[in-house]
Amino acid sequence: MARASSAAATVAFIWALALLAAAASAARLPGRAVEGAQPRGSGGPTATAVFALGSFWRSEAAFGCLPGVVRTSVGYAGGSKANPEYRNLADHAECVKVEYNPRLIQYKQLLDVFWASHDPREVFGQGPDVGNQYRSVIFTNGTLEARLAGLSKEREQGKDRSSVITTEIHPVGAFYPAEPEHQKFELKRKPFLVQLIGNLPEEELQSSTLAAKLNAYAADLCPPKTQKRISSKIDEIAKKGWPILRDI
Ligand SMILES: *[C@@H]1O[C@H](CO)[C@@H](O)[C@H](O)[C@H]1NC(C)=O
Repeated sequence: MARASSAAATVAFIWALALLAAAASAARLPGRAVEGAQPRGSGGPTATAVFALGSFWRSEAAFGCLPGVVRTSVGYAGGSKANPEYRNLADHAECVKVEYNPRLIQYKQLLDVFWASHDPREVFGQGPDVGNQYRSVIFTNGTLEARLAGLSKEREQGKDRSSVITTEIHPVGAFYPAEPEHQKFELKRKPFLVQLIGNLPEEELQSSTLAAKLNAYAADLCPPKTQKRISSKIDEIAKKGWPILRDI
């Protein structure tokens, strides 16, 4: 029984990846060569961005629905403690790592989402989440990212000079992945949705583009039109009695 459902999950996963890969390749410009090794389902080489903007449960969901985002995961960065844990993260911040296809979405757009998804003027936390672990940080990789991050911060500060943008900009150092129970947290809060994509094993859930999107959907953080489209797709599946969501 367990074996059969795990096989079904694998089939569903492969289907979802195949459909996502097809969608990504359809979105590519015709005649463009694809260079480098291809991570599964990404439709091209990927880049990585790391941000801290409050609780990483919500941060992961804030980026998961963006077209061009291939994978999301949460972890700890920005501190000095080796191997931090959720209950003992010391000077680290809760972070989201966003893996994206730079042909489909640019770092600048990720920065826009970063600013729009939290209040960078709040000191020592975000809303009910109080503490240094919820501070606002852009972790940059290279001078171009650092420049873009700096410019975007200046622009954000320029919108209102009556309070200070607290966001720090640091070169990215070690990123420690968080414990499995914190990955795709919003999605796991809705077991029905996890079931819909075939109860993927943890490892596959963490690397799945579909799961990243559904994690955003579960937190109501996809654009309203997309929320609607996914809802009706789920209703359709529920009506048909076909239990596997393959693509959204
Ligand atoms: C930084 O970017 C380079 C490519 O420009 C990449 O090879 C490297 O893995 C990146 N480092 C991190 C920590 O993301």
